[in-house]
Amino acid sequence: MTFPAAESLVPSVPALDVTAKPLDQQVVLVTGATGSLGRESALACARAGATVILHGRRQSLLDALYDEIVTAGLPEPAQLRLDLSEAREAQFKEVAETIHASFKRLDAIVHAANHCKQLMPMTLQDTAMWEPYLRVNTIAPIGITRACWPMLKRTPRARVIWVSESHATLPKAYWGAYSTSKAALHHAVATWQDELTPQDKILLGVYIPGPFAGNSRAVTHPGELASSLPSAADAASDVLRLLLIEETAAQALIYRRSHSA
Ligand SMILES: NC(=O)c1ccc[n+]([C@@H]2O[C@H](COP(=O)([O-])OP(=O)(O)OC[C@H]3O[C@@H](n4cnc5c(N)ncnc54)[C@H](OP(=O)(O)O)[C@@H]3O)[C@@H](O)[C@H]2O)c1
Repeated sequence: MTFPAAESLVPSVPALDVTAKPLDQQVVLVTGATGSLGRESALACARAGATVILHGRRQSLLDALYDEIVTAGLPEPAQLRLDLSEAREAQFKEVAETIHASFKRLDAIVHAANHCKQLMPMTLQDTAMWEPYLRVNTIAPIGITRACWPMLKRTPRARVIWVSESHATLPKAYWGAYSTSKAALHHAVATWQDELTPQDKILLGVYIPGPFAGNSRAVTHPGELASSLPSAADAASDVLRLLLIEETAAQALIYRRSHSA
């Protein structure tokens, strides 16, 4: 198998004008919507007119985001609470069935949920530590997408964006299970892309945001000044661009940040 055209910057969208509500009537699932990038992506999608399904595992955070979106007069979101480290095939199926029962459609998924704990040498990473990395960062985002595939196939211009990490393509000391879980994800998405036909109006892409002020960065780079970094909202505007670009068949596998960080 040859990997598809490897990388691209996030293409600019002629007019990223959310007041025109470019995602009006669309349903977008954002996993990890209670996290830094997930939250900003969910807000960006809602401002662009989408009905957003907010995924997280903490009800209080989901409720706070729900209230924020409703108070802002944006389309009423839905909530989906699920621990991805525990989820198996039955739960992925249930996610798809619930979305179908509520909305009958799904136009896009932004996989922003992420398991990220302290970096450490390979010799200290036992298999129990590996498991949640692979469950949350690799298996769940593939399993959810697979379960939702029939809905995505029916929508005119579906998008699935998996958020990843630069160390997935550049292995580095101490990133062991974390970067491996993302590298496996890249491989799976590339394989999936290779299976698409020119008739498939669907964009499957991995987005690497580069550093931004988010919870995962605070874990991997403790002591760094968050104010010195681009914001999660900056990265979320890339996510929105990826949901809006026209190209479908000739996409890259990896999209990197469009702004200089
Ligand atoms: N920040 C950066 O500088 C940077 C750089 C490169 C790439 N990235 C990528 O950007 C993405 C988002 O990063 P972030 O900083 O926004 O992450 P974050 O704030 O830590 O958010 C992660 C989200 O995933 C959820 N989550 C974690 N474990 C879960 C589980 N077992 N079940 C369900 N949900 C779970 C978290 O929920 P809880 O709040 O309940 O834990 C949270 O909503 C990641 O893929 C990361 O690799 C970030």
